[in-house]
Amino acid sequence: MPAVLPLLRLRRRGWREAPRVGASAWGLPSATGGCRPLKVTPHPAPNLTAVEATETSKVAFVTGGARGIGWAAAAALRAEGWRVVLADRDVAALERAAAELDAEPVPVDVTDIGAVRATLAGVARKMGRLDCLVNNAGVFKNEPLLEVEEDGYDRLMAVNLKGAFFVLQAAAREMRALGNGGVIVNVASAAGRSARPTQAVYGMTKAALIHLTKSAAVALAPDIRVLAVCPAAVETEMWEQVLKERRAVGGDADVQALFARIPLGRACTAAEVAGVIAFLASDRAAYMTGSALDISGGMEMI
Ligand SMILES: NC(=O)c1ccc[n+]([C@@H]2O[C@H](COP(=O)([O-])OP(=O)(O)OC[C@H]3O[C@@H](n4cnc5c(N)ncnc54)[C@H](O)[C@@H]3O)[C@@H](O)[C@H]2O)c1
Repeated sequence: MPAVLPLLRLRRRGWREAPRVGASAWGLPSATGGCRPLKVTPHPAPNLTAVEATETSKVAFVTGGARGIGWAAAAALRAEGWRVVLADRDVAALERAAAELDAEPVPVDVTDIGAVRATLAGVARKMGRLDCLVNNAGVFKNEPLLEVEEDGYDRLMAVNLKGAFFVLQAAAREMRALGNGGVIVNVASAAGRSARPTQAVYGMTKAALIHLTKSAAVALAPDIRVLAVCPAAVETEMWEQVLKERRAVGGDADVQALFARIPLGRACTAAEVAGVIAFLASDRAAYMTGSALDISGGMEMI
C-alpha cells in the first residue's frame, strides 16, 4: 500500500473534502402532493485514521469503487482498518478515488471475464489475502417494457448479472485458495424484489443477484459468507439518472409517486448503505449468510 498520501495528511490537519453530491433540484412530494426541496446529505469525508490499516490487515475488493455506493463502502471499510482494492472501468475516477481513500486502484471492466479472473488472482498474490468482495459495479436503465431493445437488454445482463457472477466466482476461488474464508456482499436492489413498470430488465438482473446470493451462500459455506443489500433510492450519479429517466418516461408525477412510497420520506445516502455493507463484512455479522437486507426506508414493506 502506498505510504501516507498527501490527502491523508491534509485530512489530519482538519481538511474536509467538498461534498461529492451537492444539493440538487430533486423534488420530494409533501403529504399534500406539492414538492419541497429534497435535503441531500453531503458525502462525509472518509475517516481513514479511525483504525489504521497495517500490512497484514484484511483486504477488501470493491467493484464500481470509483464513486457512489462502491466509493462509500470502500471508505467505510478503510475507516474500520481494512486495506482496500478499488476496481472500476472509469480509470480517471478510479485514480482519484484511490488517492482519496489511500486504496489500490485496479482498472477493470467486470464484463471482461478473463480480465476479472486475472485481476482477482493478481490481488490475492500482491496483497497476500482477500477477505471481502463488495460486488457492486452496476448500470441502470429505465425503459418501458415494450420498448426494450436487445442491445440494452444485453448490456444490463452483461454488467449486472454475468459480470457480478464471474466476479463472485473469481473472488471465491481466490478466497478458497488462500484458506482464510471471506465475505461477499452483493449490491442488489429493491427493484429485484418488487416490480416497477419501467425496470423489468434491471429488476431481473437484481432478482437474479438475490438468488445468486442464496445459491452461493449454500455452495460456499461454511468458510465464505455471502450476503446482499437491497437499496432503493441512494443519492449517487446513478440515482440522478434514475430520476431523469423516470421523469422522461412518467413525468414529475412518477417521481412524486416514488417518494410518496418511502415511509422515511427521503432518499438514502451512499454512506448509509456503506455502513450496512461494513457491518455485513465484519465479524459482528459472523452468523449471517444468504440474507438480502432491505435498505429502502421502509418502501419494501408497503
Ligand atoms: N443509486 C441507487 O439508487 C441504487 C439503488 C439500488 C441499487 N443500486 C446498485 O448499487 C450499485 C452502485 O450504484 P451507484 O448508485 O453507486 O452507481 P454509480 O453509477 O454512481 O456508480 C457505479 C460505478 O460502477 C462502475 N461500473 C459500471 N459498469 C462497470 C463495469 N462494467 N466494470 C467496472 N465498473 C463498472 C462505474 O464506472 C461507477 O464508478 C449498482 O449495482 C446499482 O445497481 C443503486
